[in-house]
Amino acid sequence: MRADESRAPNACAVDPWAAEFVAAAGPQDPPPGGPEARAFLHDGVAVRTRYFDDCLLEAVRGGCTQVVLLGAGLDARAFRLPWPRPVDVFEVDLPELLAFKERVVGGRVPAVARRVTVAADLRDDWAEALTAAGFDPARRTAWLCEGTLAYLAPDRADAVVRAMAAHSPPGSAVAAETATSHGSLDCLRSCRDALAADGAPWRSSLRDPASWWAERGWRMTVPDPASLPYAAERMARYVPMLREAGDTGGWLLTGTRCGPTPA
Ligand SMILES: C[S@@+](CC[C@H](N)C(=O)[O-])C[C@H]1O[C@@H](n2cnc3c(N)ncnc32)[C@H](O)[C@@H]1O
Repeated sequence: MRADESRAPNACAVDPWAAEFVAAAGPQDPPPGGPEARAFLHDGVAVRTRYFDDCLLEAVRGGCTQVVLLGAGLDARAFRLPWPRPVDVFEVDLPELLAFKERVVGGRVPAVARRVTVAADLRDDWAEALTAAGFDPARRTAWLCEGTLAYLAPDRADAVVRAMAAHSPPGSAVAAETATSHGSLDCLRSCRDALAADGAPWRSSLRDPASWWAERGWRMTVPDPASLPYAAERMARYVPMLREAGDTGGWLLTGTRCGPTPA
């Protein structure tokens, strides 16, 4: 989806690495779902890519000197974003994913001071592995959970977000995607089923993401996608469908570390 978006004349975000990953993966079946689901997912990925690009750059401009991508997948931000200052980027994901990624990016020079991959399972003690890889919990950090938390069971997502807070001094930032009512949209049923058959079901969703994050040490802002200039037109056509599904907002969020360390 990022490769397709990058070729569009009105692209929200351009990721030149996406096409390289697609080529390296070789021929694939088309993604599941009908035209409506594919359009919705494509536009959603395009908007979220741009939104998180902007959030991370803003956090670094604001003083964060480390960036941690949790469930980094094929995120190429360490290579493609115009970082405003030297920053260390940590990419946490499962070993097989990182091995594939390194086949494509290995040996290429990132646009950051240091890019570190951390092979760890977010259901285990990933924070220990992150710290052992050089992450400094005393430095202000920008965290990103893009397309990640929905794949974790609710108790695991809870533990991840609490651990992020426990490893973040004040002034740290987070940007995250939350599965709200999207997960229950009828048009996405075949995507959900295909992911589940592949061993990666969507496991958690939230009705009130901002409160959920606040209980875990993060003060969040929930933008109305219609207020984002690059998103308003793209997302307008899906508003009736989302309203019908009881969407309560909170799909994309950004926030800062606040309050005491949660238990
Ligand atoms: C939908 S992809 C999102 C990837 C990337 N953040 C992006 O937006 O392109 C979900 C990612 O989470 C990773 N992931 C899923 N479960 C995980 C776990 N238990 N521990 C670490 N990574 C996990 C997957 O390997 C995959 O790369």
